[in-house]
Amino acid sequence: MSRPLKPTVLVTRRLPSSVIAQLEDVFDVDLYTGSVAIAREELLRRVAGKSALVCLLTDAIDAAVLDAAGPSLKVVANVAVGYNNIDVPACRERGIVVTNTPDVLTNACADFTWALILAVTRRLGEGERVVRAGAWAGWALDYMLGMELRGKQLGLVGLGRIGRAVAERAPAFGMTVAYAARNPADLKGAAQMPLDKLLATSDIVSLHCPMTPETKHLIDQKALTKMKRTAYLINTSRGPVVDEGALAWALKERLIAGAALDVYEKEPEIHPGLLSLENVLLIPHLASATTETRTAMAALAASNAIAVASGHAPLTPV
Ligand code: DGY
Repeated sequence: MSRPLKPTVLVTRRLPSSVIAQLEDVFDVDLYTGSVAIAREELLRRVAGKSALVCLLTDAIDAAVLDAAGPSLKVVANVAVGYNNIDVPACRERGIVVTNTPDVLTNACADFTWALILAVTRRLGEGERVVRAGAWAGWALDYMLGMELRGKQLGLVGLGRIGRAVAERAPAFGMTVAYAARNPADLKGAAQMPLDKLLATSDIVSLHCPMTPETKHLIDQKALTKMKRTAYLINTSRGPVVDEGALAWALKERLIAGAALDVYEKEPEIHPGLLSLENVLLIPHLASATTETRTAMAALAASNAIAVASGHAPLTPV
């Protein structure tokens, strides 16, 4: 007797071998092994007839991809908490379940936000560049001074899981917390305020909102001019939340003291106006990049795909 056919899954990037093994228990796995994001044409070709798609934030999963997959596709499992790369309404119209990877990356992203805050306020990027260029003339009392955190206000834009975890770490640095969010949060000692007030009063403004049509260019020229000249902007959310052209202008004109970016409007492109500035720290989208977290993200996406393919409810639906 022939064995029943397994459902099929397209995995658009290499994942830890333990996760591939987890998928292979249930699926026939079509694994794209290229070192950069799968090309659009190849994605359209390889997704055809698949039951599941395990994809990354670098893959645009729109109606054309869903149509190329056809009616067999039951689940799109994103290996990311953000899912702005997926046309969720188009999935819903076709009865396709969409899942993401919340919680497993919260600590890594919150720790990383603090790494950026410390690095930009203490000028680590600039300092390292000087040392590597052999341009350090030696210790001086007034050399490369930064800003202390104690007694300052951390302003969070968006207070989801990651924003909250960032806030919880603030007392360790002696910072007060303010936040701008749609709903009041039960977060001891944190003050909710309108975005304009948060921008005008915070010493660090850190973005933790999802990328939606409402948050696109939330931080534009007007928003940046509201910030203190001594303040810093941190973005670990999604690039398009910040108008990069406006930010490059504000940094160049010293309308704000500095910025630390982990995400960009057109990754992996960086706005040319940012590249030449010393007061911006530019990091290649690494907030969740620990071995533990990336493995947990991939495993959760695989579990979601398996659950749906096996007729169960997804663990973390969008
Ligand atoms: C996410 O999961 O959305 C992060 O941006 C990945 O680092």
